[in-house]
Amino acid sequence: MNSKIVGTGSYLPEKTLTNADLEKIIETSDQWITERTGIKSRHIADKNETVADMGTEAALKALEMAGLKATDLDMIILGTTSFFESNIPGGAVHVQRMLGVPNIPAFDIAAACSGFIFSLSIADQYIKAGNAKRILVIGADMLSHMVAPDDRTTMILFGDAAGAVILEATDEQDTGIISTHLHSEGNYVDLLHCPTPKRGEADTVDTSYIHMKGNEVFKIAVTKLSEIVKETLEHNNIDKSEIDWLVPHQANLRIIAATAKKLDMPMERVVVTLDQHGNTSAGSVPTALDFAVRDGRIQRGQTLLLEAFGSGFTWGSALIKF
Ligand code: ACO
Repeated sequence: MNSKIVGTGSYLPEKTLTNADLEKIIETSDQWITERTGIKSRHIADKNETVADMGTEAALKALEMAGLKATDLDMIILGTTSFFESNIPGGAVHVQRMLGVPNIPAFDIAAACSGFIFSLSIADQYIKAGNAKRILVIGADMLSHMVAPDDRTTMILFGDAAGAVILEATDEQDTGIISTHLHSEGNYVDLLHCPTPKRGEADTVDTSYIHMKGNEVFKIAVTKLSEIVKETLEHNNIDKSEIDWLVPHQANLRIIAATAKKLDMPMERVVVTLDQHGNTSAGSVPTALDFAVRDGRIQRGQTLLLEAFGSGFTWGSALIKF
């Protein structure tokens, strides 16, 4: 049994925050942000909007593309680390409620920017084991709401988005998810994290913010993504020339370019959305995938390499015959 992506969808909040807007709020410049990151603008969720709302919108579009109803699903996995509305329960059951699908497993996976790849890998294992037929996999985050209002190093990076895919069981050979590869290394926790208030002190702290040692994160991201690309190719015994599209996590154009170089891929075969979306954490890979599917760049039968790197550190990849 194989698992195949039969629908993709994405959602971006209406409000945008451009580099010119940021120049009015913090000491920065369009030139600095563009040169260091490649980001020009990002979408920012409204205060009333939740990760579950965004994920539900993306899911409805993926279901529509797949020609399926929500009641056709037998599992929902939501990759997120920013469902602020409650610690208990997580966001996936809210998506389930809004989609109106009773009595199927729905749960969150917290792997920061790698949340979608980790969720996709779990869904793939369920389908290949014969324990599920159609799984909704969502990556959604609103990290723009977790940055300190005076921290120019993080404020420029993050935007909000949700992306979704429907993964379906198929008997077809050589199609769908070929392999997924996941890694975590907890020794790096302090380089990129968002602490919560200490136990018993929740009432005394209003908000906690993302702390990032950007330069160190950058170097490790480049190293680990290069390693995982190599691992994915070697595991499947395929040559880098066989990859049609790289769909990378959208954190920094220089990190993306370094991974593309490792694959000898021209940037024309790399899906880039970060110029307009910023880093949308778990939302970034499925949103980029959906954009390239809907505008016709990604075609059925092509070979895709998806990869992500995030807080933890966590990192992962998926090789897909689309
Ligand atoms: N505007 C202008 N100047 C700035 C800004 C800004 N927004 N931010 C920092 N600077 C200054 C710094 O203060 C520093 O000044 P100094 O030299 O006088 O001290 C200078 O610019 C250089 O700062 P660096 O931090 O060394 O800049 P760097 O080239 O590393 O770029 C960046 C910073 C863009 C954050 C980069 O390190 C990066 O992208 N890191 C990776 C982030 C990432 O990939 N995260 C992935 C996972 S996210 C997740 O999991 C949630």
